[in-house]
Order: sequence, then structure tokens, then C-alpha cells
Amino acid sequence: MHAALPQIILMQFTSALRLAALASAMLSLNLRAADPATTDAAAAASPREHLSLDAGWKFHLGDDWPDALRLDKAGSSGGPASEKFNDTAWRSLDLPHDWAIELPFDPASDTSHGFKPVGPGFYKNSIGWYRRTFELPKEDSGKRIWLTFDGVFRDATVWVNGWLVTRHEGGYYGFREDITDIVRFGGKNLVTVKVDASKFEGWFYEGAGIYRHVWLDKTAPVAIAPDGVWVYSHFSNIYNVPEGDARILGEVTLLNSSLKPAQANVTCQVIAPDGKLASYNLTSAWIYSKTAVAYLDGNVHSPILWSPESPKLYKLITTVSVDGKVVDQKETAFGIRTVGFDKAKGFLLNGKHYELYGTCNHQDMAGVGAALPDALQAFRVGKLKEFGCNAIRTSHNPPTPELLDACDRLGMLIMDESRLLGSDAQNLAKWESQIRRDRNHACVGIWSVANEEFSVQATPQGGNVARTMQALVKSLDPTRPVTYAAPQGDTFDGINGVIEVRGWNYHVGQDMDNYHAKHPDQPNVGTEQASTVSTRGIYANDKQRGYVSAYDDNAPSWATTTERWWSYFADRPWLSGGFVWTGFDYRGEPTPYGWPCINSHFGVLDVCGFPKDNFYYYQSWWTTNTVLHLLPHWNWPGKEGQTVRVDALSNCKSVELFLNGASLGKQAMKPNSKLSWSVTYAPGTLSAKGFDDAGNVIAETKVETTGEPAAVQLTPNRPTINADGEDVSVITVAVADDKGRIVPVAGNKINFTIEGAGKILGVGNGDPSCHEPDTFIGQPALNIVPVTGWRWQLAPVPAKGALAPEYANGFDDAAWNTIRPKTDGDTGDMVLKEGETAIYRAHVNLTADQLASPGVQVRFTCIDDHGWVFVNNRRVGESRDWSASPVFDIKKALHVGDNVIAVGVRNESGSGGLNPEVNVELVGKPVAAPWSRSVFNGLAQVLVQSTKGAGEIKLTATADGLTPATVTITTQPSAGRPSVP
Ligand code: GAL
Repeated sequence: MHAALPQIILMQFTSALRLAALASAMLSLNLRAADPATTDAAAAASPREHLSLDAGWKFHLGDDWPDALRLDKAGSSGGPASEKFNDTAWRSLDLPHDWAIELPFDPASDTSHGFKPVGPGFYKNSIGWYRRTFELPKEDSGKRIWLTFDGVFRDATVWVNGWLVTRHEGGYYGFREDITDIVRFGGKNLVTVKVDASKFEGWFYEGAGIYRHVWLDKTAPVAIAPDGVWVYSHFSNIYNVPEGDARILGEVTLLNSSLKPAQANVTCQVIAPDGKLASYNLTSAWIYSKTAVAYLDGNVHSPILWSPESPKLYKLITTVSVDGKVVDQKETAFGIRTVGFDKAKGFLLNGKHYELYGTCNHQDMAGVGAALPDALQAFRVGKLKEFGCNAIRTSHNPPTPELLDACDRLGMLIMDESRLLGSDAQNLAKWESQIRRDRNHACVGIWSVANEEFSVQATPQGGNVARTMQALVKSLDPTRPVTYAAPQGDTFDGINGVIEVRGWNYHVGQDMDNYHAKHPDQPNVGTEQASTVSTRGIYANDKQRGYVSAYDDNAPSWATTTERWWSYFADRPWLSGGFVWTGFDYRGEPTPYGWPCINSHFGVLDVCGFPKDNFYYYQSWWTTNTVLHLLPHWNWPGKEGQTVRVDALSNCKSVELFLNGASLGKQAMKPNSKLSWSVTYAPGTLSAKGFDDAGNVIAETKVETTGEPAAVQLTPNRPTINADGEDVSVITVAVADDKGRIVPVAGNKINFTIEGAGKILGVGNGDPSCHEPDTFIGQPALNIVPVTGWRWQLAPVPAKGALAPEYANGFDDAAWNTIRPKTDGDTGDMVLKEGETAIYRAHVNLTADQLASPGVQVRFTCIDDHGWVFVNNRRVGESRDWSASPVFDIKKALHVGDNVIAVGVRNESGSGGLNPEVNVELVGKPVAAPWSRSVFNGLAQVLVQSTKGAGEIKLTATADGLTPATVTITTQPSAGRPSVP
């Protein structure tokens, strides 16, 4: 059967050629030097604006408006979707945001999601509401306005100005809407998002909320379509090996939202990494109806190739003009490089064998959960690169776009994975959107159609679906190979028999060799390997505390130790290398122990990014650095005279170990292995020397028995950050002894205060069983004053909320009816018949102290149907939505002492009236507990984010009995990214 497998490289080339042939038939090529001044002028003339909508949202957790969504009439949704809704008491925050991280741990909640009480069974914590207003100037009228969400976990209902805009299902795919028709130019607009995280998609921590960026784009009616630029390179030899000039091919999809056909001129300038023009292309396309495609084809002489080691990026500047006027311009970063797989040589980058030193990763970090600011994407890529990782598998979902930007820039390959196997229209549409979104990225080297689809992977249907998904890749991106993360051994049935590159999840050993012997033409890759478990700084398994030893000893039944998988793969280039499960620990999937453990331990790095010992194993064999590392630490009081195992992780040819200066022997190192000694413990200094082949000392290291904790140390990864309200400095908190040595067993609780132009975003310590909060969020305190003693009378209600005599404070209502609340299963006194009107009155007494609260509002449970609300004979608002629980800001209308609240109600249909459950709410200043975190085995982490002011940020750390520390971070003025005010 394997004879039917395509010759991979040949197939890629053929499809590329087909596209290229099509391209050259359709364009007019015109090479000339570009004038940079012209490019700048075009950029200035382009109506396109790509604006961040991340800042300035209001947030409320809870399903308080279950009936807000109304589908009977356009624009009729209520509650927070309505423009009249008052969100004063809601919390203010900026995106990205993950509310799951803010919830306390709960042993009754889902283990695989990290014991956060959200999702199935925790409905109360699973609905979040976001609201934000924005202005559009009058001059924008005539432009198209787009609203884009890069990712919301999980289902989102979006309204703009009360209009339902979209209902999007799925936590990992972006979505966008053209909202031009319903926005107000020259006025205020409102976006409301209801997020429903009551269902999971994965079996790992997934977060909850708008955890990726939100954008507002403005374009001319004729413009480049969303994700409408596609550019790639090709070399004119049969193996697509980078030799000679690179041919630059691509497509520009244009969108015409006007009713008139248009002829668009499209210029494409390729700018080299040194900023010089490398290629110039002019083509044109008629757009008769909605879309048209212009093709580009050019040449770059002596191209500078992209690779993880030298991540040089080119830039494509696409400019669109209609009738001589620039209508759009867009920049697209891309890399010139080729990727492929060979049945014998494994993965090929730029035509040469390139060993994949990969890690799988979820989008989860200490302190922020799934909501990573861009700076943390770069931080994490940098941490992975430190131990030689050159590829990330975005398990098991499409990544946040800014992760790809960081990988392009810093040099890291990506295996870009879909969330689910499926060839139904919806899944294919999602898969297509992922490919279109990500295919320009230099870093994306491989597509993965899915992971471990146990129940269907070996069936003919599973194979059919994978074939369809693979075919879609080939039609949209002929340049990259496709794989599937198969948790199978020597099995060819189903997906493995149709997929271009056989992916291996686990099954290290004979199965791989047998399979390769039977299917020698199919390339292979280790899509998911290791799953070695280890806890940073722990050297014995401890079920009670949920810790596993960091010696490379522990792996679940399906997995292997670090050394076992890597030494096997390293011997077999045809396996292409592989991806460790995982680069970083993540919340959820605590293995092998459950509660109190809330984290996985699979990481080479912990959830903060602190290295575990296995980091040095990989660094030894995945980098060219000289590495010498000893484990464990040397603080073992009480173990004097007992044996302690000491391991050396190193790529030196031999290593000699010493205790307090006395040699414990020299051992030769075999490639891809490690060394061990049994040492009789005595406190002091354990040291080692590493030697080269000639016996020269090329590395030295030591581990010392430290003194007691004496002082806190703070070390920022970046002492200067941008004052853009987004940039983050990652600060390592360490507890040291009086000689400044980190105490590897310290667990002191540290308190943090911050001053200046920054705020703390989150804290962590990498302890997989720590239940301390990652965030200390200030919630406005709410003091509630019930408004009781409501009376009512049928009465005419003046139109348009004009005053009636019955609203006045001195009006005598003693003879009016009293009123009973409406409760479930009881209509209470919702007594108004269709068409009837009535006035309702109550008194509330307030003190000067109460009125001094920053906000005072009145909240009604239900006004059915149409109500006008008055406080002390002053109109404060109107409600037209019986399903809303309307809230009105009444601070200005109140005085100390007795106040009268009166409501005129008109019942339009059915029964109606006023539910007398009404409260005055005194909204206090947000208050939060002070920030703190214990160090775990000596270390913790604080994420400090700039606010928009330039200047200094001072973070101070104090702890009982320890000398405190202060670190100063400078924020430098920065325009920041263009954003909606
Ligand atoms: C794999 C799975 C991963 C993770 C891992 C733990 O089978 O693909 O998502 O669950 O096991 O070892």
C-alpha cells in the first residue's frame, strides 16, 4: 500500500509549479526601482487603519441576564447588549483577559483543567460579559469597519449598538465581522460580548474570556480582503533547494464592498532584511463583484534565507490603487526558505537535513493563564531557545498570532495544529481560516491535521477525513508538508496510510523500526515524545504533596524518560527529531498524582519558565554550548553519611566529580546520555570538571550547601520596557542566604508593592501544588441598601418621561396599594393588564457617608414593559426591556436623608408592572488584597506590565525576617500600537 504514497518533495514542487504557471499567465510584470518616498506617501494615503481595541473594557462575571439574547426582532436584545444598560459597577480591565485564572482552586472541579471551578458543573462561573464603547469620527463614513476577535474562550455572542453581530462557537479560531452597516459615524458605539465558557474543548487548562487581541479595522470599500495576502518563495530546481534566485509567488485577494465594479492596480514590493528593495511587481485586476485575485510573481537575487539560527525576514508591501488613488496598503512579513521531508534524511530545511529539537506547548503561563501579552510570547520562545529547542508544536489548537510573530522574528519553527479532525463544512472552514491566517509566516514549517483521534484514527472514515483536510492544505499552501499526531505503533490503517508524514506520539522502540521497514517511502516525525515528569528542585517522589523527582526517572506508562526517547531518535535521522511533551508545565493534567497537584509536570521548564534539571540534558545534546550541570542541590541536613545520587548533565567528553575538593572519580560521557555517582553526603561543595577529548578542562561547575534564607533578590529579564500599557518585564524573585546564594529549599512568603508607571499582572512560582492566587484583583466593593415599602396606583403616565404630579416628593401615597415581589412560579403583583399604566413610589434614607461613595446607582429586578425612573422628581432614566435588570446612575439626584424613587410604568402586552425588589447600590473603590507569593524551592516570578506613562516602576519585595529588595524598571516613551481611544 505504501507504494501509493506520493513522493513528497516532488509533489510539493509540482503543485507550486502549477500555481506559478497560473500566476505568470495573469500578471503584467514591471520591474523598476521603487521610490521609498512613494511607498511612504502611499502608506500615508492608505485609508487602512488597524487599531487595537484591547484597552478600556468593563467586565462582569455571572449569568445575570440569561434572556438578554432576543431573536424575534432585529436590535431588540436586552441587558448589557442594550445601549441603555449601566455598567458603572462592573470591573474595568484591559484585554487579553482570562477570568479562569482569577478563580480559586476547587478540588470538586475538573482535574484535567487544573481544578478551576469553571466549565461543566460550574455554570455560575462560566458566563462573562464584556462591554466597551468607541467613537467613530464623521470622516470615517464611507469606510468599511471591521471587528476582529483573535480568540475567545469559548462561545461568544457579540452585539454592536444592540444589534446581534455574531454567535461564534469555538475557543481557538478567530472571527471577524464587517459592522459598517450598524455603526454610528460621528458618535459613540457599543460592543457587548457575552462569553460562555461552560463547555470544554480540550483536556488541559483552557482559560475563559477574551484571551487574545481584539481589533477594529477601517478600510476603503475596495481593499485587500482579510488575510488576503499570500506570499511564498520557490527555487527553480526539481528539489526546491535554495540555489540561485528565489522566485516570489503569491496572491492578493481584493474585496469590493461597493456596488460598482472597479479596476485595481496592485503593486507588490519585496523589501530585503537590510531594508533595500529586492523585487517590484505591478499587476491589476478587475473586481466585477465581491472578490477578485491578483497574482504576483517576482525574483529575488541572492536571497537571504530564513532559519531558526538566522531568522531574516523579508517584507512584502502590497499597495492597491483605484483610479490613480491609493485605497489600501499592507505589509506582510515572510521568509525565504524551503521545508520538506525526506524518507531517509528526515526533515529538510533549505534543502538540508535539519533535526527537529521540538517541544509541544499549550498557551498557558503562570500569572496570566491563557491571556498572554505579546511580550510573554517572546519571553517563552526565548526560554525554549535557551536549551536548543528550534520548533514548537502548537498542541492542540491554532496558536495566538503573536506567538507566530515572535517565532518568525526570533527563529523558531512551528507545527501548526488544528483543534479537531473533521471534514464537515464548519471544520473545513475553520481549518481553511487557520491556513489562510498563518501561511505567510516563515516559522510555520508543518501543518498537523489533528492529535490522537483515538476512536477514528484507524478507520477508513478517519483516513478519508484526514485526506480531505490534507488536500485542503495542498490547495491553499503547496509549500508545506502535513502530518497527524498518531498515538499508534506499527499501524497503517486509517490516517497513517494517507498522511504525508507519519507522526509518532510515543511508541519509542521496535514499532518504529518495523513500521519504517514496511513503509520506507513515508517520512516520519516524532510529533509528541517524552512526557517525562519532574518537579523543579524535588529529588524524591512525594504523592502527598503531588511532587515527582527531577532525576530523569519518571514517565507514565505510555511515555519514556528524556534520555530514552532522545537517544533513540538521535540514532535515526529518518525520524526527523521530535517534539517533547512539553516545553513548559501547564495547568491541568497533573500526572501521576492528582489533588493537591493542579499542574502538569511534563515541562522542561516549569509554568514560570524556570528550568528543571532535564533542561540541561537537552541543552547538552541540542546546542553547541559547552554544558556541565549537577543535580541535586546540596542542602540535605539530616542525610549526613547517607548515599545521595548525583547526576552530571553535560556534553563534555568526560566529567570528574569532587566533594569538598576530593575526587569521586572521572567518567566518560556517551553521546546523548548522562553520568551518575553515588555520593556519601557531607555538607559543603560538590563540584565537577568537564574535559574535552584531549583532557583539557572546558567546563567547571559547583553546587554548595547554603545557609538559611537571609534576603530577597529581584532580577528583571528586561530592565527597560516600553511605556505602551502592554509591555511586560518578567521579574525573578529569589531567596538567598547571607552570601547571596539562592537557597534551593526556601519557601518564604514574599509580599510585593509597586509604585510608578506599572502594575503587577500576575505572580507564580512553578510549584505544581501551590494554591495561592496568581492574581489579586481589585473588585469594587458593593454596599446594598434595599428600597422597600413600594406603593402603586393605576395612573396616566405622561409620554416621553415628562413629569407627573405623582412623582413629586411631597405627594401623599398613603392610600395606594402595597406590592408583593414577583417570585419564581408566582406572578406576584405584576398586575397591569395590556395597555395599562401605573405609578410606583418608594422612599430610601441615605447618610452623607453613603452618598460619598464613588458611585451610587439603583438596580431594578424587572420593569415590565416600559418604565421611566425618577429620583426626587428628577428623571434618571428609562427602560424598554422587561428582561433587563436595569441600573441607573442616581448619585447626582440624591440628597442626605429621605429620597423618593418613582417609576411610571406602561404595560405593552401580557401582564406587567414593577418587581419591588429594588436596591440602591453604593459602589466603592476597587480594593484588592496586597500581592504576595511564596517562593518554591527558592524562586518565584512577578510579571510587571507598564502603564502608559513613561518613567520608573519600583517593585519592592518584603518577607518576614529577610532583607527586602527593590528593583527599578525604566519605561521608555513608546507610541504603542495604534489603538481605538
Ligand atoms: C498525550 C496527549 C497530550 C497529553 C499527553 C500527556 O497523549 O496528546 O495532550 O495529554 O498525552 O502525556
